[in-house]
Amino acid sequence: MNILLTGGAGYIGSHTYVALVEAGFTPVILDNFSNSHPAVLQRLQAITGQAVVCERGDVLDTPWVEAVLRRHDIAGVLHFAGDKAVGESVAQPLKYYRNNIGGAVSLLEAMQAAGCRTLVFSSSATVYGDPASVPITEGFARQHTNPYGHTKLVIEDMLAALGVADPSWRLGVLRYFNPVGAHPSGQIGEDPSGIPNNLMPYVAQVAVGKRPHLNVYGNDYATPDGTGVRDYIHVQDLSAGHVAALQALVAAGGQSFTVNLGTGRGHSVLEVVCAFEEASGRPVPYQFAPRRPGDVAQCYADPALAQSLLGWRATHTLADMCADAWRWQQGNPEGYGD
Ligand code: WQD
Repeated sequence: MNILLTGGAGYIGSHTYVALVEAGFTPVILDNFSNSHPAVLQRLQAITGQAVVCERGDVLDTPWVEAVLRRHDIAGVLHFAGDKAVGESVAQPLKYYRNNIGGAVSLLEAMQAAGCRTLVFSSSATVYGDPASVPITEGFARQHTNPYGHTKLVIEDMLAALGVADPSWRLGVLRYFNPVGAHPSGQIGEDPSGIPNNLMPYVAQVAVGKRPHLNVYGNDYATPDGTGVRDYIHVQDLSAGHVAALQALVAAGGQSFTVNLGTGRGHSVLEVVCAFEEASGRPVPYQFAPRRPGDVAQCYADPALAQSLLGWRATHTLADMCADAWRWQQGNPEGYGD
C-alpha cells in the first residue's frame, strides 16, 4: 500500500518513513526541503536498504500534489509538512497561517480530487494551551496561546467539518506531546537549524561542547523541583503510533479518531539534564533564567485512548531517549550539514 508522507524528510517524517517500510507499507516522500536536508534521503536508503522515492515540491501547489497522488497511486497520506516554531509563529503569523492552514487545505483538495480520503494529521498537545490539570485527556478544552498552536487547532476543526460533510473520509488526528530522541542507528535524528528552541537538542549541544551551558527557563513553577514538566516521547514510539493509526484507518470499517501520543509520564527540565548527563557521561552545566513567555508549568498526557483504540503505547524510557539523542548528536555534530 503506497503512502504519501508530506514533510517526510523532516524529523518525525523520516523516522515514520522507516517504521512504515518495516510494517510493509511503501512510503513516498513529498518535501520542499525548506526545513529539512536532502542528505536524509541517503540515510533512509542506508537504514531501509531500499531506494527512496521523493517528490520535491510544495504542498501549496494543489495541482502538483494531485498529480503526485495519482502518479504513485497513493492510498493514504501522513501530513507532517508545516512550520512548527512557536516563537517564530508569534513574529510571523501570516507565514504560519499560509503554510500550515493553506497547506492543509491544498492537500485536502488535492486528495479529494484524486479520490484519496485517508489522512493522518500531525497535531500537537499545544492545542490544550495551559491545561487546567494533568494528565490531559482528549476531551480537555482546547485553547491556543500562539499562532502555531492556533493553526493546529484550526486544521483539527477543518478535518472535523470535512468528516461531517463527507463521512467517506477516514481521519486520524495525533496530538504529539514532546518528541525527542533519534533512530537507534544514529543515522537520522533531530536537526534544528540555528539555536535550538527545544530542550533536548539544546541539552545535546551543551553535552557535545557546542554551547557553554543550558538556560533553564524558570525554577519557580508549581512542580516538584520548580522547573517545567513535559511528556517527552521517543520518536520511535511516535513513529509506531503513526503506523498503528494508519493500520486502524485502512482496516475494514476504519473510523476517524483523535488521540494523544504521549507516555503518560512527566519529567522536569532538571530530570532531563540529569538523565542526559547519565546517558552521555558528559556534564550539562546550566543556569536558571527567567520564565519563557507562553510556557506552561506542566503538560503530560493520559494515553489510555490511543492504547484502547490503536493498541499502541509508548515503551521507551527517558534514558533510552537520551542515549539515542546522544548517539545522533555525537555522530552528527553538525546535523545533516556535515
Ligand atoms: C520543554 C521544557 C521549557 C529550552 C514546544 C511546542 C510544541 C512542540 C514541542 C512542535 C519547557 C524548558 C526549553 C531551553 C528550557 N513543538 N526549556 N531551556 O515548549 O513544551 O513544546 O516544542 O510541535 O508544540 O510548544 O518544548 O522543548 O521548547 O520546552 O528550560 O533552552 O524545557 O521552559 O519547560 P515545549 P520545549
